[in-house]
Amino acid sequence: MKQTFFLTTPIYYVNGAPHIGHAYTSVCADVLARFKRLDGYDVFYLSGTDEHGQKVEKAARDAGVDPQTFTDRVSADFRGMSDAMGVSYDDWIRTTEERHKVSTCELWRRIAASGNIYLGHYEGWYAVRDEAFYDDGEVTLQPDGSRIGPSGAPVEWVREPSYFFKLSAFQDKLLELYETQPDFVAPTSRRNEVISFVKSGLRDLSISRTTFNWGIPVPDAPGHVMYVWLDALNNYVTACGFPDPDAPRWKYWPADVHVVGKDIIRFHAVYWPAFLMAAGLPLPRRVSSHGWWIVDGEKMSKSLGNVVEPRKLVETYGLDQIRYFLMREKPFGADGSMSHAAIVSRINVELANDLGNLAQRTLSLIARNCGGQLPAHGEPTEDDLVLLAAADALLPIVRDHMDRQTFNEALEEIWKVVRAANAYIDHQAPWALNKTDKARMGSVLRVLTDTIRTIATLLQPFMPASTGRMLDQLGVPADARDFAGLATRLPAGEALPPPQGVFPRYVEPTA
Ligand code: MSP
Repeated sequence: MKQTFFLTTPIYYVNGAPHIGHAYTSVCADVLARFKRLDGYDVFYLSGTDEHGQKVEKAARDAGVDPQTFTDRVSADFRGMSDAMGVSYDDWIRTTEERHKVSTCELWRRIAASGNIYLGHYEGWYAVRDEAFYDDGEVTLQPDGSRIGPSGAPVEWVREPSYFFKLSAFQDKLLELYETQPDFVAPTSRRNEVISFVKSGLRDLSISRTTFNWGIPVPDAPGHVMYVWLDALNNYVTACGFPDPDAPRWKYWPADVHVVGKDIIRFHAVYWPAFLMAAGLPLPRRVSSHGWWIVDGEKMSKSLGNVVEPRKLVETYGLDQIRYFLMREKPFGADGSMSHAAIVSRINVELANDLGNLAQRTLSLIARNCGGQLPAHGEPTEDDLVLLAAADALLPIVRDHMDRQTFNEALEEIWKVVRAANAYIDHQAPWALNKTDKARMGSVLRVLTDTIRTIATLLQPFMPASTGRMLDQLGVPADARDFAGLATRLPAGEALPPPQGVFPRYVEPTA
C-alpha cells in the first residue's frame, strides 16, 4: 500500500478577485503534491474557498447580491484561477457545503464536551479584513484618530455576547508541541515568532458572533454563528470525511503539510492545534509558511492599481514560465518582488538559454547525425561519469528540499547539473566528433540524453506541460516518468520524434 500524503492550501476568502498571492500559495502546494505523486505517494491535495464571515457578507452586500449567489460566483472564479495555474487539487472544498456544516457542528460539540467552551461577553478590537481579534497592545492609533491592527487593517471596538474557547488552558501543551515536534512550524523564524507569541500569554478566544448571521449556527445557541476561523480551519478535517470514522478519506488525516502565507500562521500554528487537542483529534505534522510578493517594490493594493491577475501573467509569459518564476525567484519563506524584467530574465536566461538550448542542441544532433535514434552508451570517460553521477545524485537532494519546502534551492541544485551539462557539451563538442569519431559522438549524446531525462523528470512538478514535451522528445514512455522510472536507462536504438524547441525566448512585442 502506498504511503499517504495530505497537503492543503488555505481556503481563499471570496470577498474579491484572485491575485498572484493566492496563485502563489496554490502553486507552491501544487509543486509539492506533484512531486509526492511522482515519488510514489498516495496524495490528497485539498484547496477551496472560505465563504462565511463578516468580510464576505459585506462584500456581497456591496455587490448587491445575496451572500450565497455571491460566494458561488467568486468561488468559481478562484477555482478557474487554480485550473489556469495548473493546480492539481483533488478536492475543492467550500465552507458553505452541507458536509462542512455537519463536520464543524460536530467539532464544536466535541470541544464543548471537553469542557473548553463557555458563554461570556466579548469586548475588544476586531479587524474585519483579517477576521481577527486584537489586544490593546497590538493596536495603534493613527493621526486621523482611527486605529489599525498589526497587519495594517482597520479595527473596530465590538461588544457582544460570545462563546469563548479556553485557549489559555493550552499554553503549555502548545509549547510542548513546538518543543517535541520542532518541524511543526516552518521556517524557523516563524517558529520563533509563534513560540514567543504563545509564551507571552494566551487569552481565551471568542469563537462566536451575534451581530451578523452569515456563518454556521452554533449548535443549540440561537443567535450565535461560529467565528469564521474556527469554521474555516475545520475544512481540512471535513474534507477527510469527519466525523465518519469509516470515510474513505479519513486515512489522510492528519495533514502532512498545511501550506500557508506568513499572515495566517497564528491561526494555523496556535488556534488550530489547540482546537484539535480539545476535540481529541490528531494534530497536523507541519505548518509551512511562505513570504509575500510585492510588485515592482510596492505592496499590491487595489488603490495603487498594481494588483497582479494570475491569468494575465499566464497569457503574457506562459504557464510553466510563471510557475518556474514563482518558485525560483525568491526563497519560499522570504518576501520577494516581481517585475517584468525579472520574469523575462528567468525565462530567457535559465529556461530558453540554459535548459531549452541544451535539449535542442542535443536532440537536433541526434536527429541529424544518429538517424534520429537514441544512441548507445560507449565506454565511459571520467567526464561522462562525473556528469552522470551528478544527475543521478539529484533525486535525494531535491526530495530533501521538497520536504522542507525550499523550492528555490531544489531548482538551484537542478540548475547546477543543467550548467554542468552545458559545460560538458561545449567541451566534448559532439558536432566536431561527427567527422572524427562517430561512436564517441553517440556516446556523448547518450550521456546528455540521460542527464536531460533526469532533469526533465525532476522538473515535472514545476513545469508539467513543457517537461512532458521534453520527455516525449527523449522517447520516455508515459509509465517511466515517475522517479522510480529513473532507475532504468532507456534502450538504445529507439526512434525519437523530430526535436522542437520547448522553451521559447520572450520577445518584447513591437508597439
Ligand atoms: N481565508 C483565509 C484562510 C483560511 S485557511 C483555513 C485567508 N484567505 S486569503 O484569501 O486572504 O489568503 C489566502 C492566502 O493568500 C494566504 O496564504 C496569504 O498569505 C496569501 N496571500 C495573499 N496575498 C499575498 C501576497 N501578496 N503574496 C503572497 N501570498 C499572499 O487568509
